[in-house]
Amino acid sequence: YDYDLLVVGSANADLVIDVERRPAAGETVLGSDLAVHPGGKGANQAVAAARLGARTALLARVGDDGHGRLLLDSLRAAGVDTGGVLVGGAPTGVALITVDPSGDNSIVVSPGANGRLTPRDVRAAANLFRISRVVSAQLEIPLETVVEVVRSLAPGSRFVLNPSPPRPLPAEVLAACDPLIVNEHEAKVILGEAAGAGDEPVDWARLLLAKGPKSVVVTLGSDGALVASAEGVARIASVRVDAVDTTGAGDSFTAALAWKLGAGASLAEAAAYAARVGAVAVTRRGAQESFPTAAEVDAL
Ligand code: RIB
Ligand code: NA
Repeated sequence: YDYDLLVVGSANADLVIDVERRPAAGETVLGSDLAVHPGGKGANQAVAAARLGARTALLARVGDDGHGRLLLDSLRAAGVDTGGVLVGGAPTGVALITVDPSGDNSIVVSPGANGRLTPRDVRAAANLFRISRVVSAQLEIPLETVVEVVRSLAPGSRFVLNPSPPRPLPAEVLAACDPLIVNEHEAKVILGEAAGAGDEPVDWARLLLAKGPKSVVVTLGSDGALVASAEGVARIASVRVDAVDTTGAGDSFTAALAWKLGAGASLAEAAAYAARVGAVAVTRRGAQESFPTAAEVDAL
């Protein structure tokens, strides 16, 4: 394989304002100066993996504009192969983000060029699928594009999906996931309101597994994570840190997990390492700028 990880997904310019609290409907609040960071769940995963040392390629679409150049610069600086980043068709995706004093964020995404990453673009990148050990995706691109990703997987490669922002998934996509990585909110959307999933993450993990994925990871914030497969369910401890900005931490978790799985780690080993990567990321501002090198993870 030429690449440890091929990421198919979004690239956004993150327009970030720190706030004391979020405004209610009809209300105006004052916040910090505006910061513009390279983000987007796909580009974030690619940068996170490359910074850890994974040979990484990204299939994505940005606009022919300043935000697109910001993203290409960040990707290249991290060592991501950007040959698969298509340019034009719509403005670069934008994420409007507020960060509160606890480090939690609220995000509104305008997909822009991400919405123009088509199944045809995936088919045109068939060679990237042949030379990549693991393929990962998220849901800030059209669902039919993710379906085409699943159909394009080379025999022997592994598919990892973080269905964010969540929506119900076709059986074909669920069956390809190894693992499906969800937080509580995503788990509930994928399971559907009527599923009677209850309040126990262990039950969500089992119910999700029954929907077809070969394995499932449920992330639980400061409570760590659960990993579930045919071998059973295991709990992964969290790593205690003081959060400054959680933006992109989940993306770095997914990328680290995907890379470690490709390198032969068990699901539990990969999730434990990924939790350490995410822990470093939340202690720093921004998304891509906050992702650690392998040496920084080892030093934690
Ligand atoms: O997961 C974090 C990312 O979500 C941000 O970088 C933002 O671009 C949104 O896509
Ligand atoms: Na961060």
